[in-house]
Amino acid sequence: MDGTPLILTSAERTRAARLLARFTDSYENSLTRRPIAPDEDRETLAKLLAEPFPEEGLGVDAFFADVVDRIVPYTTTIAHPRFLAYVQGPPNGIGPYAEAIAAVLNQNCNLWQISPAANVIERSIMDWLTGLFRLGPHSGGLLTSGGSGATKDAITAAIADRRTDFRERGLQENHAPLVLYTSDEAHRSVVKAAALLGIGLHNVRTIPTDDRFQLRVDLLMHAIAEDRAAGKEPFCVVATAGTVTTGSIDPIGPIADLCAKEDLWLHVDGAYGALFILADSARDALLPLSRADSITLDPHKLLYAPLEAGALLVKDMAKLRAAFAFSSTSSYLTAIDDAHLLDYMDHGPQLSRSFKALKVWAALRTFGVGAFRTVTERCLSLAARLGEHIADAPGLELMNPVTLTAVCLHMPGRNAEAHAELLTRLHEEGTAMLGPARVHEQACVRACVTNHRTTEADIDLLAERLIALAKR
Ligand SMILES: Cc1ncc(COP(=O)(O)O)c(C=O)c1O
Repeated sequence: MDGTPLILTSAERTRAARLLARFTDSYENSLTRRPIAPDEDRETLAKLLAEPFPEEGLGVDAFFADVVDRIVPYTTTIAHPRFLAYVQGPPNGIGPYAEAIAAVLNQNCNLWQISPAANVIERSIMDWLTGLFRLGPHSGGLLTSGGSGATKDAITAAIADRRTDFRERGLQENHAPLVLYTSDEAHRSVVKAAALLGIGLHNVRTIPTDDRFQLRVDLLMHAIAEDRAAGKEPFCVVATAGTVTTGSIDPIGPIADLCAKEDLWLHVDGAYGALFILADSARDALLPLSRADSITLDPHKLLYAPLEAGALLVKDMAKLRAAFAFSSTSSYLTAIDDAHLLDYMDHGPQLSRSFKALKVWAALRTFGVGAFRTVTERCLSLAARLGEHIADAPGLELMNPVTLTAVCLHMPGRNAEAHAELLTRLHEEGTAMLGPARVHEQACVRACVTNHRTTEADIDLLAERLIALAKR
């Protein structure tokens, strides 16, 4: 047999490109007519699960037909303008094309020698991001699989910074247990990371929040003192800029003061909220993040990169390298001679790394930073508008100050089932997809405006339907 069976002929490539163009166009044009929530027909999905793979390939046309007929109906229409669940938005327009090009080039972004352009592009994004947060001359970072991964890597670096023999001895042979502090509104990725890294959940303090869902610094101070008195070793505080349920921002300045005084690593989980720094109206609230040792943020949220693209920023790149560089074949020795190049494999847990940076870079260049300023500002103002509608509505209670774009509402006197039914009705009638939440022990419905396609008319329609449904 001659040649690889794994390439397309020139005619097939042309056909695939045409089918892709047709698919993306018709998907785009049909967005508002599509059901937002996926069809969950178990029988069809079970068939898809059980179907054996063919020995002989079915070809390009069959693949595209499968996508249209057998996959798309069972997907969530994330790009619908009234998809307002979780913290997720539609991809920006250039994202899919950048993803395709990244797949063609298939750069491995581990050693700079084998992916120099990709390396510099990732570095340029990190320079821009660390500049936004004014993290200083030694700062840097890298793209990750998402916010959860970035926070886990940050806590890894915090442990390595505290315990210089961590690599050799792990946490097992050391004396005092390390203690990590976060709030009761923190994302579960924080405790998950602490558990996975061997800190142990018994050594994670979830500090209560105040009536604005912000971590209480007085209680944090108290908990640290108590742990020290008990012979434990506080080492890290994970504050949040944009808590997942209510969008609150912890008092980063006072927490940073305390961390400085107590010699603790300050990580800020800004997976949801940090990039609102692009919006003029939120910038001042987020500038104190400049005090953090590390920051999680998510380009796959507010830069609307197609999944996945998270990011970890650190004030001191040397601390990431101290935690993650294992390689004897590393080109670090060369890289220190050349300020523009570094080996990402020595700054994170992955060896093989995809060219995620291309889709972020493509968006920043295609649309310009100004477009992201506009979109983040618009999301904030749409969320405020929804909050005002709810605050004024009979039969609905607004459960949180709308600090960023999360809006939680409760129907007083109605139980959790009634709130779940409200969500189902909104899905079924095609109005919107929102998510469930619990606020102050009350079942709620939560809308999160992280969707660059949402308009004022969408928000007004949603509010009208919420008010009508709550009356029933
Ligand atoms: C505050 C916060 N932290 C962390 C995460 C997890 O991010 P990812 O889904 O990118 O892992 C989220 C996700 O919504 C979040 O809102």
